[in-house]
Amino acid sequence: MPADIRTDIAHSARVWNYWLGGKDHYPVDATVGDQVTFLYPSIRDVARADRRFLGRAVEHLAGTAGLRQFLDIGTGLPTADNTHEVAQRVAPASRIVYADNDPVVLAHARALLTSTPEGATAYVDADVRDPEKLLEAAAETLDLDRPVAVMMLGILNFVADTAEARSIVRTLLVALPPGSHLALTHPTLELGGEGNEAAMVFWNENATPPIRTRTGAEFAAFLDGLEILDPGIVSCARWRGTDPSVAQFGAVAVKRG
Ligand SMILES: C[S@@+](CC[C@H](N)C(=O)[O-])C[C@H]1O[C@@H](n2cnc3c(N)ncnc32)[C@H](O)[C@@H]1O
Repeated sequence: MPADIRTDIAHSARVWNYWLGGKDHYPVDATVGDQVTFLYPSIRDVARADRRFLGRAVEHLAGTAGLRQFLDIGTGLPTADNTHEVAQRVAPASRIVYADNDPVVLAHARALLTSTPEGATAYVDADVRDPEKLLEAAAETLDLDRPVAVMMLGILNFVADTAEARSIVRTLLVALPPGSHLALTHPTLELGGEGNEAAMVFWNENATPPIRTRTGAEFAAFLDGLEILDPGIVSCARWRGTDPSVAQFGAVAVKRG
């Protein structure tokens, strides 16, 4: 096991994997995952709805929107229907770069690197808080002069400072040409979710990295300057889907000329 993997404290990617029914986690992740579920019973629904949002968003991006390049930041552990699988089912020539800063995700990245022969997949071990470096690494696989779909699902909630989170999004989108898209999900207290607040307090005392919610106005501000696609900013479960609403915003937006 790589030396930097901590098995004594729960980590977001591993607990997320536990909630999704995966096997890539340690006992501490299952224990904290169960404690959070006790406080916030719909958290597993949030995790599943978020992944289903990913599927619908990528189908749209690779399909109607015609994108062939994807940058999936805060990838998480491999699960069913990862971004490249959905994109390459629609458009086999799709090129996908995954980025995460968790050493366990890095250790499992091989499972993400199964590309069609026409397309490509790559993994970069990178921190979203250094977006310039992340883009530099992504440019080894993606042509950043052509549109890119930036996927930021459940990751900005780990950047505590809202100004910093906004600046990260701006840096990424400014570097990319018109036609580039941003797909975003983020937890909120504005869409119900009994126990969400208490569960986050518990998480921040017992797990890492620390997490936070944001309001609809804060979420919308991440999309400033972009055109938000229908149906706008909604529960990710309701974004072109019919699952019961969960307390996680979802939206897809495009950068116009
Ligand atoms: C809740 S999981 C979401 C996984 C996936 N995007 C999804 O929606 O199913 C959050 C992921 O963000 C990653 N993450 C958290 N902080 C990060 C940072 N500063 N830089 C890069 N990745 C980060 C975690 O390691 C984890 O894999």
